Amino acid sequence: MSQNQIPNPLTDSEATLAELTSSDATAKSGAAPVDTKTAANLMAAFGGESMANRKYLYFAKIARRLGNEEVAKLFEETANHETAHAFAHLELIYPSAEMTVEKVLALAAEGEMYESVTMYPNFEREAIEEGNEAAVLEFQEQAKESLEHAGIFQKAAKRFGALKRVEAFHAARYQAALDKLSAARV
Ligand SMILES: [Fe+2]
Ligand SMILES: [Fe+2]
Repeated sequence: MSQNQIPNPLTDSEATLAELTSSDATAKSGAAPVDTKTAANLMAAFGGESMANRKYLYFAKIARRLGNEEVAKLFEETANHETAHAFAHLELIYPSAEMTVEKVLALAAEGEMYESVTMYPNFEREAIEEGNEAAVLEFQEQAKESLEHAGIFQKAAKRFGALKRVEAFHAARYQAALDKLSAARV
């Protein structure tokens, strides 16, 4: 999707900001509690296994490009194991028996919003400070794509009648980020 096609659930649907902000703002987003050491460790372990999965798939591509099919397959097989390890951690973080479509959409939108409005802008600022131009561009681009993903999830939530469960401030922050992007494009 090009940056001119960033979905805006606030205008692409009948929903208005007022409607969103009048929804149940106290509704839990479904975020996993990380208030114990074990909860934080599970998130860290999930992160590590997830990274191993993507890293090994990337290494497999490199090995294949260099003509070593055997090593490429070794990395791909191991990557599958890492996915199973990551899913086992996720089962403890977000127990599947407790999940609903609205919860997973809210969690997904929340994660993308965090990336777009908090994580990437902070990373971008630090990359600017360190003069790493390639990383600055990468972080800017990914912030835009995370916003697109947040919009897609919020739109799906609206379609499935679940948007009221997405905390109102997420919708407001999404609109603010979208306005900033639109202004930057003019
Ligand atoms: Fe593992
Ligand atoms: Fe994303």
